[in-house]
Amino acid sequence: MKNNFEIVNEIHSSGDVIRWLDAADGLDFIQKCKEKMQSMCSIKKGDNVLDVGCGLGQEVEKFAGLVGTNGQVIGVDLSAEVIAEARVRLSDKGLPVEFLTGSADKLNFPDNRFDLVRAERVLEYMSDPLGMVSEMVRVTRPGGEVLIFDFDYSGTVIDTSMTELAGKVNSLMEQSVPNPRAGGSIFRHFRNADLIDIQVEPQMFPVSYFVYKAMVDGGMKVGLRTGVISQLEYDKWWKELEGANQRGCFFAVFSGLIVKGIKMADTN
Ligand SMILES: C[S@@+](CC[C@H](N)C(=O)[O-])C[C@H]1O[C@@H](n2cnc3c(N)ncnc32)[C@H](O)[C@@H]1O
Repeated sequence: MKNNFEIVNEIHSSGDVIRWLDAADGLDFIQKCKEKMQSMCSIKKGDNVLDVGCGLGQEVEKFAGLVGTNGQVIGVDLSAEVIAEARVRLSDKGLPVEFLTGSADKLNFPDNRFDLVRAERVLEYMSDPLGMVSEMVRVTRPGGEVLIFDFDYSGTVIDTSMTELAGKVNSLMEQSVPNPRAGGSIFRHFRNADLIDIQVEPQMFPVSYFVYKAMVDGGMKVGLRTGVISQLEYDKWWKELEGANQRGCFFAVFSGLIVKGIKMADTN
C-alpha cells in the first residue's frame, strides 16, 4: 500500500520521488526556511540529532558538520527508496550519520535519546499529527529541542480576478495533502505535548508562477476528474495567471510556520 506522501507525490509530479525532493530542495524559499530553522537551534559539538522524514538527507549532512565526530545525526524516513538514495549520497563522506526507514509516529528509539529532533514538511502528510509530535518529544532529552516547519495551505495568497474560482482552487489544493493546516496546528500540538518556551516564526514565501503551478495543478486535475471544476474554469484559470506572469504581474504566496519548543526537565 502507498503511504500518504507517495500518493501526494503522484498528484504533484510524475511519481519520481527523488527528482521531486531534489527540485524542492533547490528552491530559494525552501533553502531560506532551512537556514531559519537551523538558526533557531542551539546545536553544538557532540550533540545527537534526529531528522524525522529526512528525505534525501540534505539537512542530515548539514547538521553532521555541526555536531562533529563526537556527535551523531540520524535520518528517518518512511520511504525505503528515499533512504537508500540518502545512504548512497552520504556513504563516502565520512560523516557521523545513519539513515533508517521508519514512521514518524512510531520512532524506534529509546526515550530521551536526542538533543534535537526536527521535522520539515512532514506533518502535512500525517493523519495523526499529535502522534508524530508526541513521538518526537518522547525521544528528545529533557531540556532538548523539538523543531518543526510546515506549510499551512489555508494561508495561500493568489492574486486573481476570479475570486470565486480561487476559493475552489485553494480548497482543491488543501485536499491534496492529508493535513493541509499542519503549520497552524503545531503550536497546539506542542502545548498538548507539554513543551515549554515555545517560539513561533511565521513564514510567508512569494513563489513564481512555475512553483505555484507545480503545487496547484495536480489538485486541479483531480478537481476536473471529480467534477469540482469544469474544463472551462481550468483553462480560464491558467490563461489568466499565465498572462499575468508574462506581464510580470503574477503574485502568489505560500505560508507556513516554524515552531520550536523545549522538553521540560524531569521534575521527579
Ligand atoms: C516534502 S518531503 C521533505 C523531506 C525533507 N524533510 C526535506 O526537507 O527535504 C516529506 C518527506 O517525509 C517523508 N514521510 C512521509 N510520511 C512519513 C512518515 N509517516 N514517517 C516518516 N517519513 C515520512 C517522505 O517520504 C518524504 O521524504
